[in-house]
Amino acid sequence: QWIYLNGEFVTKENAKVSVYDHGFLYGDGIFEGIRLYNGNIFKLREHLDRLYDSAKSIMLEIPLSYEEMQEAVAETLRKNNLKNGYIRLVVSRGPGDLGLDPRRSPKANVIIIAEQLAIYPEEAYVNGLKTISVSPRRNLPDALNPKIKSLNYLNNILVKIQSNLAGVGEAIMLNSQGYVAEGSSDNIFIIKRGVVFTPPCYCGALEGITRLAIIELCAKHGIPLKEEPFTLHDVYVADEVFFTGTAAEVIAVREVDGRTIGEGKAGPVTTRLLKEFRGIVE
Ligand code: PDD
Repeated sequence: QWIYLNGEFVTKENAKVSVYDHGFLYGDGIFEGIRLYNGNIFKLREHLDRLYDSAKSIMLEIPLSYEEMQEAVAETLRKNNLKNGYIRLVVSRGPGDLGLDPRRSPKANVIIIAEQLAIYPEEAYVNGLKTISVSPRRNLPDALNPKIKSLNYLNNILVKIQSNLAGVGEAIMLNSQGYVAEGSSDNIFIIKRGVVFTPPCYCGALEGITRLAIIELCAKHGIPLKEEPFTLHDVYVADEVFFTGTAAEVIAVREVDGRTIGEGKAGPVTTRLLKEFRGIVE
């Protein structure tokens, strides 16, 4: 397996960054999770747009142009001879001194890892995941803006720990006003009487690329969809619930906080949207 590290390809064993890297020391950096289906990089432009927006927002200078980054991703896939898999693209502030000041980290590190991935077993897409809700974890835009896909995933990891302790597959994050934001590493949708709902990103959600693909699929197939805030009550009484993400794709939820959702498995609209989604990614 070859890892792209600042323009060179190194083996996994040699893929190292300095302990003075501010991505490591302070989570000062950004990343993208991108999916490869049958040689097709799904929505690479949208992912790179988000990456460069995140970089601009934290004033991180990516040492590759947009085109050079596209080429670096393509080269990494060729080098690993991958047709299907998952690409993790990381840009950290790079090595500096022990202070926070990014001016001391003049050169960002660019890392591209490509490998196979299957975060949920296929049966989970039919039976759905058991989930819980967790205490407010998602910052509102006034804190670290959730639209920035930064290396600051400790909030998400704490949510993952809570779901592990509860013995469930994923957890739903609320924002400080008690509205539903998203999952620990995916966006959330609910369906009620044939209408699909998803929180607007200002509720504290990453502007998910899979989320947008589902919004577009609903529009294309005349499935009514509303981007509006909703609460845990709305989730509990929903007919269907599902998460979306590059790694997760479209994964049904069968239970939230002990409440069975619908028939306790992937619902008809969820199943249809997963099928349509898998139809567009090839
Ligand atoms: N997650 N929300 C969070 C907090 C995420 O980390 C992710 C992606 C999403 C889904 O966004 P998208 O559809 O653009 O992947 C939402 C990991 C990194 C992933 O699935 O790759």
